[in-house]
Amino acid sequence: MKQASTILGIESSCDDTAAAVLQNGKIVSNITSTQKVHEIYGGVVPELASRAHQSSIIPVIDVALKNANISLNDLTAVAVTQGPGLMGSLMVGLNTAKALSMSLNIPLIGVNHLQAHVAALYIEHQVQFPMLCLLVSGGHTQLIWVKDHMEMEIIGSTIDDAVGEAFDKAGKLLELGYPGGPQISKLAQNGDPTVYSFPDSNLPEYQFSFSGIKTSLLYFLRDKSKENADFAKNNLENICASYENALVNMLTKRVKKAIKNLNPKSIGLVGGVSANSVLRNAMKDLGQKYATECYIPDFQYCTDNAGMIAKAGSFLFEKNEFIDISTLPFSKSKA
Ligand code: KG4
Ligand code: ZN
Repeated sequence: MKQASTILGIESSCDDTAAAVLQNGKIVSNITSTQKVHEIYGGVVPELASRAHQSSIIPVIDVALKNANISLNDLTAVAVTQGPGLMGSLMVGLNTAKALSMSLNIPLIGVNHLQAHVAALYIEHQVQFPMLCLLVSGGHTQLIWVKDHMEMEIIGSTIDDAVGEAFDKAGKLLELGYPGGPQISKLAQNGDPTVYSFPDSNLPEYQFSFSGIKTSLLYFLRDKSKENADFAKNNLENICASYENALVNMLTKRVKKAIKNLNPKSIGLVGGVSANSVLRNAMKDLGQKYATECYIPDFQYCTDNAGMIAKAGSFLFEKNEFIDISTLPFSKSKA
């Protein structure tokens, strides 16, 4: 007999092929296969991403089911990322989910990837609403006002690059490989964040901009390397710590302003960059200072994963919000 609500989540919007099983509200398996093929190119190559998804999606789903100790016939629904993301990559996940939905005769749930990052918080927390959530990933930087589990409004976003890109582009300039975020935060641990300063933008309300700071790092490194060709190499830890500190301050400054203006019941931090420990601590400090709960996902639910897709899917499942077999993916954020 089928268990009440056993949902398979599938994520394939960028360079992670992921599958997870949510059983009666709990994640019982969460598998993520991160594509290595892009590393030598210093960024995600869309065509290579789609091909890698194609070869790994079935094995990843198989392992997720095995780890959950269930078979395909135990599933009550399949939830999949519908967008935003890379078109070819999204199609692999969506078509796989359609095939499962049709062959198993179970509902198909289309999940917005950005809402799913927020839903990552519901895996481990009983969130108090309204929540002010900072979403920071490789493609997005948003301040979101979350009224209820799947009811949210974007109140601020970046006008150019995402903060993850600011980390990744710095990683490229400092020759740290791709993605640069984890490398920069690792090196920053042994550096002094007060040695160098990088400028913030002067935008109204909760808007972000990260193209200026990236260019200022480029010119800074160019000028310093004229004096000493080994400047970056010899000062890597301090550069990383100072750059990271500037990015974290740019983010928390806006969060602080929004807390003061909107008085949320709780704050949250989600998306790939929420794996950054300096940012995690800065958000926890804000939570303490303003006496609001601060939720941050466990590391496995920060970067792209299917656990968050299954969790978001479970709320849509409860509301009978299903998609049709003819539904198409969407590449751009609808907000
Ligand atoms: O959410 P995510 O996995 O994928 C997107 O939907 O974009 O986020 C990936 C981003 C990359 O830019 C990566 O450099 C960044 O998250 N990232 C970090 C850290 N871990 C991952 N940035 C800073 N510090 C980290 N520890
Ligand atoms: Zn993401």
